[in-house]
Amino acid sequence: MHPVMRHLARDHVAMQAVLDAVEREVAVAEAGGPLDSELVVLALRYLRDFPEWHHHPLEEALFARAIGRDPGCEEAFAEVWAEHDRFPAASQRLLDWFEDGPGAPSMTAAEALGELGRYAAGQRRHIRRENDEVFLVLLSVLTDEDWEVGGSASVDGTAGAFKPLFDRIQAAGASATR
Ligand SMILES: [Fe+2]
Ligand SMILES: [Fe+2]
Repeated sequence: MHPVMRHLARDHVAMQAVLDAVEREVAVAEAGGPLDSELVVLALRYLRDFPEWHHHPLEEALFARAIGRDPGCEEAFAEVWAEHDRFPAASQRLLDWFEDGPGAPSMTAAEALGELGRYAAGQRRHIRRENDEVFLVLLSVLTDEDWEVGGSASVDGTAGAFKPLFDRIQAAGASATR
């Protein structure tokens, strides 16, 4: 497998760990437990920024290359590509609410939790569709030269600005298994 494909797959694993954490928070809060809103805010900032800055541009460059090789592939990318365009606003809308904290007038707490749960499920479906369908199309159509559009694809989304989020997720996982 080309290193750029491995890199995209690693990004997906990290995003799924963040979605796991968000869904755990939703489940706890819906059962009446305390919501870790700081964790939710860090997760939403990551889901708003990391894909938009690094992951989606790389995927879209590869989609464009594949369409150049075989215009028939366009249909395979249409839905996930449209979702790339919709996700930032969906992330921002939730972020605005959770940053303001419960009591923000745009939604009730129950509505915000419901929307957060649907948002996480939508992100998860997107990743699953890419893993199960879209990436297989890329692997069958792209040549070694096409993959080079991804360069070394070296940005690690779990480091730098997003490290505090992944440290918290790891700590929560460790305490859950204790
Ligand atoms: Fe994507
Ligand atoms: Fe992706």
